[in-house]
Amino acid sequence: MIHYTRTDINQMDKIFRLNLINSCTGFKSANLLGTKSTTGQPNVAVFSSITHLGSNPPLIGFVLRPTTVPRDTYRNIKETGVFTVNHIHANMVADAHHTSAKYPENISEFDQTSLEQEYRNDFHAPFVKGAAIRLGCRFLNEYEIKENGTLLLVSEIEHVYVADQNIQQEDGWLKLQNANTVTINGLDGYAKTELIERFPYARPKKA
Ligand SMILES: Cc1cc2nc3c(=O)[nH]c(=O)nc-3n(C[C@H](O)[C@H](O)[C@H](O)COP(=O)(O)O)c2cc1C
Repeated sequence: MIHYTRTDINQMDKIFRLNLINSCTGFKSANLLGTKSTTGQPNVAVFSSITHLGSNPPLIGFVLRPTTVPRDTYRNIKETGVFTVNHIHANMVADAHHTSAKYPENISEFDQTSLEQEYRNDFHAPFVKGAAIRLGCRFLNEYEIKENGTLLLVSEIEHVYVADQNIQQEDGWLKLQNANTVTINGLDGYAKTELIERFPYARPKKA
């Protein structure tokens, strides 16, 4: 078995370390965040750190890289208070990945890819057309992770949209496989998923 110590990690080539550390924590969620500035400039970018924080109230969190360089998604969220979360599906992985390219503020990734924006219920931020699962979210708070200067943004879910593709089951659960939602392996690998099994609520074994 390969073994790396903290000293080895410190001495690694930058790209090798980035690939290793980004993939060693397991598969990550694959989402496109849609935002729009107060001047009407739309933006869309791939994020792999969106995670569930709690269901009542319905909270999500994501980690934002240090704001030492301009971050359009962050600025738009702070300006307008809202953003959308759109699942990435197998047929959009190349365009989704391209949204991570550093375009200037006045260039929309919607114009540089075949991803299209769609507006619903007067929500200020754009949704991604064709995304089978979409959330409309409102920013609540941010927490600095002092160890590396990243930010944890906490937001509440205001809208949930689910396409009619046999995704939602009777008990509310979303079968992501039926939506063709992908998962992210590291920083540049996109994978399909296959459900193995769903289990009933786990209880301790009786003696
Ligand atoms: C697979 C993948 C996952 C990413 N996840 C995040 C993330 O969770 N947080 C983050 O700040 N940036 C993440 N990025 C980088 C952003 O997509 C990138 O910085 C993008 O340019 C941000 O766009 P913006 O400046 O328009 O906000 C990720 C990039 C890739 C390729």
